[in-house]
Amino acid sequence: MSERPVCAFLWLIWLFLTSFLWRCLFAVLWCCQYTPNPNSTLCPTLHDREPQKAVGGEGRVHRVMESTLTARDRVGVQDFVLLENYTSEAAFIENLRRRFGEKLIYTYIGSVLVSVNPYKDLEIYSKAHMERYRGVSFYEISPHIYAVSDNTYRAMRTERRDQCILISGESGAGKTEASKKILQYYATTCPVTDHMSTIRDRLLQSNPVLEAFGNAKTLRNDNSSRFGKYMDVQFDFRGAPIGGHILNYLLEKSRVVHQNHGERNFHIFYQLLEGGEQDQLSKLGLERNAQKYHYLVKGCCPRVSSINDKSDWKTVRKALTVIGFHEEEVEDLLNIIASVLHLGNTQFGEGEDGETQITTEPQLTYLSKLLGVDGPALREALTHKKLTAKGEEVSPLSFEQAVAARDALAKAVYGRAFTWLVAKINQSLAFKDEVYNSSKGSSSVIGLLDIYGFEVFQHNSFEQFCINYCNEKLQQLFIKLTLKSEQEEYEAEGITWEPVKYFDNKIICDLVEEKHKGFISILDEECLRPGEPSDISFLEKLEDTLGGHAHFVTHKLANGKTRKAVGREEFRLIHYAGEVNYTVNGELANQSVICQSDNQILSQCFNREEVTTQKRPETAATQFKNSLAKLIEILMSKEPSYVRCIKPNDAKQSGRFDEALVRHQVKYLGLMENLRVRRAGFAYRRRYEAFLQRYKSLCPGTWPNWQGRLADGVATLVQHLGYKPEEYKLGKTKIFIRFPKTLFTTEDALEARRPALALTLQTSWRGYRERAKYHRIRNAVIQSAWRGMKSRRKARRRRHAAEIIRKFIKGFIYRHYERCPENEYFLDHQRFSFLMTLVRNPPKSVLDKSWPVPPPSLTEASEHLCRLCMQNMMRAYCRRIQPEWKKQMEQKVVASQIFQDQKDSYPQSVPKLFVASRLGREFNLKVIQTLGNDKVKYGVAVTKYDRRGYKARPRQLLLTSSFAVLVAEAKLKQRIDYAALRSISVSSLTDGFMVLHVPSEDNKQKSDVVLQCDHVIEVVTKLATMADKKNKVNISQDSIKFAVARGKEGVIDFTSGPELKVAKGKKGHLLVVSSLAPGC
Ligand SMILES: Nc1ncnc2c1ncn2[C@@H]1O[C@H](COP(=O)(O)OP(=O)(O)OP(=O)(O)O)[C@@H](O)[C@H]1O
Ligand SMILES: [Mg+2]
Repeated sequence: MSERPVCAFLWLIWLFLTSFLWRCLFAVLWCCQYTPNPNSTLCPTLHDREPQKAVGGEGRVHRVMESTLTARDRVGVQDFVLLENYTSEAAFIENLRRRFGEKLIYTYIGSVLVSVNPYKDLEIYSKAHMERYRGVSFYEISPHIYAVSDNTYRAMRTERRDQCILISGESGAGKTEASKKILQYYATTCPVTDHMSTIRDRLLQSNPVLEAFGNAKTLRNDNSSRFGKYMDVQFDFRGAPIGGHILNYLLEKSRVVHQNHGERNFHIFYQLLEGGEQDQLSKLGLERNAQKYHYLVKGCCPRVSSINDKSDWKTVRKALTVIGFHEEEVEDLLNIIASVLHLGNTQFGEGEDGETQITTEPQLTYLSKLLGVDGPALREALTHKKLTAKGEEVSPLSFEQAVAARDALAKAVYGRAFTWLVAKINQSLAFKDEVYNSSKGSSSVIGLLDIYGFEVFQHNSFEQFCINYCNEKLQQLFIKLTLKSEQEEYEAEGITWEPVKYFDNKIICDLVEEKHKGFISILDEECLRPGEPSDISFLEKLEDTLGGHAHFVTHKLANGKTRKAVGREEFRLIHYAGEVNYTVNGELANQSVICQSDNQILSQCFNREEVTTQKRPETAATQFKNSLAKLIEILMSKEPSYVRCIKPNDAKQSGRFDEALVRHQVKYLGLMENLRVRRAGFAYRRRYEAFLQRYKSLCPGTWPNWQGRLADGVATLVQHLGYKPEEYKLGKTKIFIRFPKTLFTTEDALEARRPALALTLQTSWRGYRERAKYHRIRNAVIQSAWRGMKSRRKARRRRHAAEIIRKFIKGFIYRHYERCPENEYFLDHQRFSFLMTLVRNPPKSVLDKSWPVPPPSLTEASEHLCRLCMQNMMRAYCRRIQPEWKKQMEQKVVASQIFQDQKDSYPQSVPKLFVASRLGREFNLKVIQTLGNDKVKYGVAVTKYDRRGYKARPRQLLLTSSFAVLVAEAKLKQRIDYAALRSISVSSLTDGFMVLHVPSEDNKQKSDVVLQCDHVIEVVTKLATMADKKNKVNISQDSIKFAVARGKEGVIDFTSGPELKVAKGKKGHLLVVSSLAPGC
């Protein structure tokens, strides 16, 4: 493979990703249809569930799975499932070696993380790294413990299912470090409130405390965990850590009293001696010198260069405070540690009678003080053995027995104190919020299992047996669950599951735990049977029951070749990971004295009932089996993730890869088995979109975009690539590729295509950049021209406005002068606005007298206009008028000529229309006949007053074209020719009196007629018009004189009063009081 194009391409990616314009580029590329997704060639999506997140910076080269594939010759594959020869252990180890050489300590087997201890700080655990892995899909980024942590955390949050991470591997492989890294990741990346930060700190601080009490330097590891640990971290619904719980398994208590050469006791002893204050040590009866204590020097190495006990002591003391230990509790704990050291220094000798006795009195004194027990009782407990459960009968111990009893007591005290410590930490980690407790269902849990790996030593005791049995169980669970999840995925994708051949270690688990027939049952039976249990009888029993089992061998049962390898007091179990010889030994301790202890911790740890009860306690093996069954139950209830740790060499050296050692671990971690299951059918699987996205450029049919169904796109692509039917299968959402070779060929094709793609990208990018530049310049030019034009126009408008304002102000100042250049604008404006006002608001009707005030220069014109306007309106009005209305108006004009401002009742008569006749059809036919050709034009009812006596008589006054007649009941009473009518008199008041003056010298004619009528204005108007006597209507102020007879005059006096009254007054006058309420 040529490195040049790879480098060029990587350089290009770097350029794109770091460029602040990369988003623009992608947008443009999208538009240009070069690629529909900016990530299509640069950061392919490889994960099934999660959206991807861009990641840059260091580690970039190994970031993307397929990027690593391109460099696979150098760094190997980052997922073992892509190994061509997946059944070859050598290929597996070679891949590990290559990656380890490149400081790539993590590799996947599917979703299982294999981690090789680098034995040096690789600087890949910084906060920046945590951020890089946060929320990023599992396969999108190079393998890391943070990827597993994040994936587990997200699965817990999204699926709301409890999770667990199983970390396994041999001593020194990096299990505890891995679990700490996971915890650290959660502590840093999970949301946390002030209240929860306490829990988070306690979770973190529980590690140094447990490590001080439960870890020790061994030949394999300077900080070896000598107990199994399962820790639950509880998260609330927001994903914040809110509590925790720790389960501990089988502490290696034998270390308390004995250590192999080059090993140490538990760290806490050395830490106390190195870091404890002098006062404190004196109180405990201790010296600052580990060499002085027998239990600390068995391994001959109380000091280790890689360990700083003094500073570790400070850390532990601080951690104890953070976790919430009271001072008294810490004191009790230190008393126990010191008492173990004093027990170690307690020596025995032979008394005068040959009995065993304690020769170190000061130790006994300190012990009774520190353990809070009675001195003589303690002495007896160390030198005698009880014969009954109640301890009433005792027998002296031999020297060896006393030493064994002392050691057993030390182990028991330390072991139980450790259990108490875990319980105490659990109390402090328990989330105590009532609200939370009531809504427990809303929390989820991630469990971390940091358990001892498979162990094979020269001499393997009961502890190794338990450890290896635990590994058998976990291996069984691991294979079962991996196989199950694999099978489920196939089913979900609709792909036929082909059964996988793998070694099922059930047969070994049954050998150990089966009821009645299993190893543990036989051990229980042997312990419970009456009499002293012995190792030999136990071995015989095992041979009797298990003899013939394919995985069980003893010296007696073995054939010649194997027989040499198995000692006479040993039995061999053939585990899935290898063969192990175990020796059997027992121990005894008189614990009854400790039950009376004043030490609070010990009195809680050692239960008095335990000693007094007749019932035999469960054997350690059964206890372990039960706790293991519980652990398996816990793990089964959760979704598991796996971290398999491998130790590259025994020398704890960085950069050294011991193939034989690694092969051994690969074998007993069952990694090949795991790979076989994972590769059951197909080496590689990816969701359609991810596959298409990555390889679409290899097929003209799918490049640059596939528009149809994803499955069809993938089918088109693989057809074009020439995949054979046996090489792949299309599931519902994923493509499954059987052989890595097929994928690598495709990958190589992509590699070859990349320079061309890069060129296309470069060209597009440059084109885009130049186009953008051109557009920017063009837009800038157009914009500036447009802005200039707009500004100029605005300036012009402003200048013009200023000019006008100036003219206006000047014109206003000179407005009273003759027209001159200074005021001509103002005057014109005045004129213009007057005329415009007139145009906009002309008078609405002939009666509308409104008219705008003209400027002085237009006064005359305004009058003309007003007149013209009125005339015009009047003309128009007249043109619209009807004949009847015209007649009415003519009459009204006559009435106004006669009465306007003359008679008080006139104004009220104006709005009342004159009618054609007031009599309607009341004319008498006879009267009509009498009148003959003279048609009655108007008739009205009147009251006639006699000239003499003023008697009122109802009459009708009828008007024809040439005379008027007074009619009374069909009789013509009086005819007045118009020609003879001299004048008509009415008063100026509101009354309805009128006097028709006719000549009195004519005897035929009667004299003047005095009439009263309600419509006097109308009657007089009509009469005056018909008789053409408009000028003969007299309007008198106070009185009217009339002729009674020839030469004789009558007078009517008019006054105003509250109401109309007509009466005969003094001097024979007719007195008319006109009401103030006007008539007409
Ligand atoms: N990821 C790592 N980076 C750097 N050093 C590591 C890493 N993992 C482990 N180590 C080194 O290896 C040592 C042993 O690791 P650790 O204590 O985790 O082993 P272990 O598997 O827990 O062993 P044991 O079963 O004895 O407890 C650590 O003290 C540390 O120095
Ligand atoms: Mg460990």
